[in-house]
Amino acid sequence: MSEQRLAVIVLAAGSGTRMRSAKPKVMHELAGLPLLGHVLATATSLGAAHVVPVVRHQKELISKYISAYFPTAVIAEQDDVPGTGRAVECGLEALPADFDGAVIVTSGDVPLLDVPTLESLLGEHLAGGYAASILTAVVEDPTGYGRIIRSNDGKFIQIVEHRDADADQLEIAEVNAGVYVFDAANLRSALAKVGSHNAQGEKYLTDAAAELLHQGKRVQALAVADNWLVAGINDRVQLAEVAAELNYRICEAWQRAGVTIQDAGSTWIDVTVQLGEDVTLLAGTQLKGLTHISAGATVGPEVYMVDTQVAEGATVVKSHVTGSIIGAGASVGPFSFLRAGTELGADGKIGTFVETKNAKIGAGSKVPHLSYVGDATIGEQSNIGAGTIFANYDGVAKHSSTVGSHVRTGSHNVFVAPITIGDGAYTAAGTVVRRNVEAGDLAMNVAPQRNLADWVISKRPGTKAAEAAHKAKN
Ligand code: UD1
Ligand code: CA
Repeated sequence: MSEQRLAVIVLAAGSGTRMRSAKPKVMHELAGLPLLGHVLATATSLGAAHVVPVVRHQKELISKYISAYFPTAVIAEQDDVPGTGRAVECGLEALPADFDGAVIVTSGDVPLLDVPTLESLLGEHLAGGYAASILTAVVEDPTGYGRIIRSNDGKFIQIVEHRDADADQLEIAEVNAGVYVFDAANLRSALAKVGSHNAQGEKYLTDAAAELLHQGKRVQALAVADNWLVAGINDRVQLAEVAAELNYRICEAWQRAGVTIQDAGSTWIDVTVQLGEDVTLLAGTQLKGLTHISAGATVGPEVYMVDTQVAEGATVVKSHVTGSIIGAGASVGPFSFLRAGTELGADGKIGTFVETKNAKIGAGSKVPHLSYVGDATIGEQSNIGAGTIFANYDGVAKHSSTVGSHVRTGSHNVFVAPITIGDGAYTAAGTVVRRNVEAGDLAMNVAPQRNLADWVISKRPGTKAAEAAHKAKN
C-alpha cells in the first residue's frame, strides 16, 4: 500500500496517575529515550504519511519534545471528553478530511512495539479487507486489561474492559494489547456511534470494534507472538521490568554483532549508543546518549559514560565520562571524572583521580595522577606532574591555559590561568606558575629550603621523634 494512505495515531493524552510523578508518563525515560520517543520513532520508520500524537495532560511539555525530535508529526489535542475513543476522534480530526487509508492506533506507553509487528498486522488487515484488526496477547495475569470475547468458533465479538467484565469474562486470558489497524472511514462512522455507558463513563475506542461488527463489517483479533512487544507501562514497576527486558535485548543484539559483554545484568546500553566489533564491556558499565565506542576498545568495569566517543583500542576503567572524545589507544582511569569538552589524543593518558573539563590533551600526553585540568590545551608527548591544578577561575571569570609539546611539569604545580608554557619547557616540583614560561626554560619559584640543625632534639625533647633522631646521630 502507498505510504500516502497510512496514518498512525499515537495516544498520549492520559494523565498516567499510576506513575505518581510530576513528569508525564510518556516522558519517562527508557534506554535513553522517553517512552513516547520509542513509539514515535517506530511510527516514523513505518513511513506513514501522517503521524499524529494526541496530547492533553501536560501538553506543552510533551508537544515541545515532539516538535524538537519529530518535527513532521502533527500534534492533535484531546478535548474534555475522556476516553481512548475520544482521543482517536481528536486524532482523526488532524488528518486531511478526505483521508481514506488505513489508521494504525497505538499508545505512547507501549514502547517495545516494533515495525515488523505493525507491518504484519497492517498486511493481514489489508489482505483480508477488514474494517478493524486488533492485536491481542495471551497473558498470565490479565488484571486491568480489556478482555477479548470470542464466539465458540473463535470469531471476535467484542472487547470488555476489566471494570465492566463479569466473573466469567474476567477468567479470559486473551487481552486487548491496545494496538489496532482501522479503515479510516469506518473508524469515523463507528466512533460517532460509540457512547460512554460504562464503569468509567468514558468513550472507549474498544467499543468501535463491536460497533463495526454490528454494522456488518469484518473485524479480526490477532495474537502477538511475543508479549513483550505490547507490554504497556502504567507504573514504575512495569517501567523497570520493561527496561530490564529491553536492555537484555540490546545487549544480546550487540553480542551477536561482535561485542563482548561480561555481565548483561549490570551493563546498561541506550538504544542510541553505537559499538564497534571486538569492543569489550566489563561489568557495571552504563553507556548513554550518543556514545560511540570503536573497535577493540575496552570499557569498564564500572564506567558511566554519556555522549562520548572512544576510538579504537582505548581503555576506560572505573570512571565517569561525559561529552568527551578519547583517542585511539588512549587510557583513562581508574577513578577519573572527564567532563564536557575533554579531548584526549591517541595514546594519551588521563590516570587516577583526575578531573578534566574543556581540556584538549594531545597525542601521547599524560596527566597520570591526582590533578585538575580545566580550560586547558596541552600539546603532544607532554607529561603533567602528579597533583597539578590548572587554576582556571579567578573568582569572577574563567581563563585558559596552553601547554606546549614535550613539556615536563613537576609534581604539585599550580598553573594560574591565563598562562602559556612553551614547547620543551620544564617546571620544578611545587611551582606556582604565574608568568608565561618560554620554550625550553625551567620555571621555579619555590623558596630556598632551610634546615634548622637539631631543632627536634632541642625543641621536642622526650618525644619518640627526638629519641629516634638522637639514636640516628649516635
Ligand atoms: C486500554 C484499553 C484496554 C487495553 C489496554 C492495553 C480502552 C478503553 N481500553 O486500557 O482494552 O487492554 O489499553 O494497554 O481503550 N488515553 C488518551 N486519552 C484518554 C484516555 C487514554 O489519550 O482520554 C491514552 C493514554 O495516555 C494511554 C492510552 O490511551 O497512552 C491507553 O490509556 P489507558 O488509560 O492506559 O488505558 P487502559 O486502561 O490501559
Ligand atoms: Ca495502559
